[in-house]
Amino acid sequence: MGIIVVGSLNYDLVTYTDRVPDAGETFPANSFETHTGGKGLNQTVAIAKLKDGQANYKVKMVGNVGDDSFGKQLVAYLNKNGVDTTDVKTHPDVSSGVATILVEEKNGQNRILITQGANGKTVYTSQQLEHIFNEANCAQDSMVVFQHEIPDPVAIMRWINENKPGFKVVYNPSPFHPLKKEDWLLCDILVVNEIESLQIIKNVYDEPYISEIKAEIKKDFVGTYKKICEKLQKETLDQKRSAVVIITLGSEGVLFSSVAHPDVEYLPAIKVPKVLDTTGAGDTFLGGVVTQLYQKKSLKDAIKFSTYASSITIQHPGAAESIPHFPDVSAAVKKSG
Ligand code: RIB
Ligand code: NA
Repeated sequence: MGIIVVGSLNYDLVTYTDRVPDAGETFPANSFETHTGGKGLNQTVAIAKLKDGQANYKVKMVGNVGDDSFGKQLVAYLNKNGVDTTDVKTHPDVSSGVATILVEEKNGQNRILITQGANGKTVYTSQQLEHIFNEANCAQDSMVVFQHEIPDPVAIMRWINENKPGFKVVYNPSPFHPLKKEDWLLCDILVVNEIESLQIIKNVYDEPYISEIKAEIKKDFVGTYKKICEKLQKETLDQKRSAVVIITLGSEGVLFSSVAHPDVEYLPAIKVPKVLDTTGAGDTFLGGVVTQLYQKKSLKDAIKFSTYASSITIQHPGAAESIPHFPDVSAAVKKSG
């Protein structure tokens, strides 16, 4: 086994509208669609689709669904994309996770409410973890990817740190939860958006520092996030564990830094003719980075590939279904020179 995602599966109920209603207001929307989603599922599908077809490793998802039609569709979509779903369990006593999503058509921006449902069952004993991550299933150099739509990903990250020293832990703290300072050291690769990067700074450092930073961001947006990226990489993560920090800035681009290349680098976002639906863009980006790094590409090449991948996702409706395949993205990267 090569890459394992431990996370959420949601059935996305998506309404496309010109604007979102105010409290007490009712008006007709433009259209409605259902899509497979959940940050865990989206990232797994991104990894499966963006994996180089020549590369010989497996992609597995660990998670939970309810015994309902939503759950069946979610698992079927993973299977269709070649994901190992042995450890996606079905529960009769709870519904599948659901996300209610409003997409504003003028700019593709979304607002998401999640109902946890069966994702709340993604809690394991050491014995179960031993079984899930046993040597017969998982290569010594496996990468394990976490988001925060399950109850306690940090407990699993801690177990991996203690029991599987060869594994690399990727953490996307979304939605954000404050952690103990030492728990940030449990991850090797941290992928955050601009808001989450500030939330970590607020979580780990003093309040005055935050107000200073917010004032600086207004004056110099990218420059200030560069400083934040450097601080997270050098002071928040464990240097011994080849810390990598990536901050995505949406249409403003992406910043990244690692122990190997500590100077923060910047790549702009790819311009697209029309942003249709940004849902799943962050998950696509993360999936691209993980596959490329697992395939031993440099961090810079991995980021470049992933900005192209997410630029395709935002031009298509839905989350997992809007994620492109490896050949389309590598063709776009090659064309760019
Ligand atoms: O990141 C996008 C995802 O967030 C959606 O698919 C939705 O299910 C929520 O989990
Ligand atoms: Na999309």
